[in-house]
Amino acid sequence: MATAVLGLQWGDEGKGKITHLLARDADMVVRFNGGANAGHTVIDRGVKFGTHLIPAGAFYPNTTSVLSSGMVIDLRVLREEWDVVSQHLGWQPQLLIAENAHVTMPYHRELEEREGSGRHFGTTRRGIAPTYRDKAAKLGIRVGDLLYPEIASQRLELRLSLLKREWPDSQAIQSLDASALLEEQMSVAQPLLPFIGDTAAAIRQALETDRPVMFEGAQGTLLDVDHGSYPFVTSSSTTFAGLGNSIGIPNPRVDRRLGVFKAYMTRVGAGPFPTRVSGTLEQRLRTIGGEFGVTTGRPRDCGWLDLVALRYAVQLNGCTGLAITKLDVLSGFDEIKVCRSYRLNGESIEQFPLSAELLERCEPEYETVSGWQEQISEVREQRGLPGRVMEFIELIERDVNVPVEIISVGPEPEATMMRA
Ligand code: GDP
Ligand code: IMO
Ligand code: MG
Repeated sequence: MATAVLGLQWGDEGKGKITHLLARDADMVVRFNGGANAGHTVIDRGVKFGTHLIPAGAFYPNTTSVLSSGMVIDLRVLREEWDVVSQHLGWQPQLLIAENAHVTMPYHRELEEREGSGRHFGTTRRGIAPTYRDKAAKLGIRVGDLLYPEIASQRLELRLSLLKREWPDSQAIQSLDASALLEEQMSVAQPLLPFIGDTAAAIRQALETDRPVMFEGAQGTLLDVDHGSYPFVTSSSTTFAGLGNSIGIPNPRVDRRLGVFKAYMTRVGAGPFPTRVSGTLEQRLRTIGGEFGVTTGRPRDCGWLDLVALRYAVQLNGCTGLAITKLDVLSGFDEIKVCRSYRLNGESIEQFPLSAELLERCEPEYETVSGWQEQISEVREQRGLPGRVMEFIELIERDVNVPVEIISVGPEPEATMMRA
């Protein structure tokens, strides 16, 4: 049975941990969107990794890790990860990289800086938007082009000539040289070249033969380019709706769509965040939760669980089950708040507004529940959890109408409970 692991908030929900845990039983793990903007924390046999591109399946010897066509791939980052993970494992993970995935070139990062869009939108500065923009503008370089250097060279020459016309006064851009750039990319990618191929065909075959396949989402639903809080979003489709297109399979049979969410909310970068808290409360969540970006190290903004947003994300992804993470971070609060609805223009609304400007004007309407004092990070069985934790979980289940299947109380794989 195929499973998709999808983030239901603004990213960093714990997708890496959950995928790594479930990937033990998978033949194939597929990353289907985004690029090196992702930062997924994986603790593998006691060693902590922040992965950006390599799917969590890479940590298992019999699992193929696929980087599918919806991704944008910074080959320098991928190579570095590949080297680090290979060294940790003592063997090389089996990868498959989509020939039609796009390459994030050094000039994409440069453009994000130069144009100021990185600063304005609080992006991860990994050149994500410029890469997806080039893809849509038919000016991108694809991973498979590297197998035909003369094709890559032609495409690069065209792209650079246009760039130079756009930026006549930029020394950095004027000095770009197609053959030097290509040589650099080829040298970095050298050991990865044998992995480049037709990922759609491989995924299709795995699904058709009922092999256990997992899809690892990056970013979160509220960062989806179409369905998130636009324009404070990433540049790819982060939801289940986009998965089929990203992997090149119409209506893929993925029976288990597992939505991952934190017991509270975080957001990093710019954009509206109705349930954000401030002062010592935010400091407390950030410190106990270790809420600092894996990719950029930026402190994450923190707030209470937003059920308006969660309901929206669950519906959008057609979630069949949920994984709640970081419940341990809420230990010791006398009271915990959850947002059931927003107040907008004097009215109470239960629908998540699609415009960032409207979302910015929403005031959360909270319900307050009793917290729990017990530390729960050592609990390993559901019956060991305080009654108030279970009441909190049940409140969420009733609200979003989807069962919580996985309860996570710590970053380690062991700190996880599977509910029957
Ligand atoms: P991802 O991008 O969705 O994979 O999430 P990140 O790795 O960016 O952020 C999640 C952070 O929370 C990481 O530091 C994880 O190690 C940590 N984490 C995951 N689950 C839990 C949990 O249940 N409790 C605690 N305390 N930390 C967790
Ligand atoms: P994971 O997979 C959290 C945010 C950035 C910024 C916006 C656009 O670890 O959950 P981009 O660089 O994509 O153009 O930035 O999206 N963002 C993330 N926030 N986790 C992520 O990935 C993110 N990837 C992008 O902070 O607000
Ligand atoms: Mg992350």
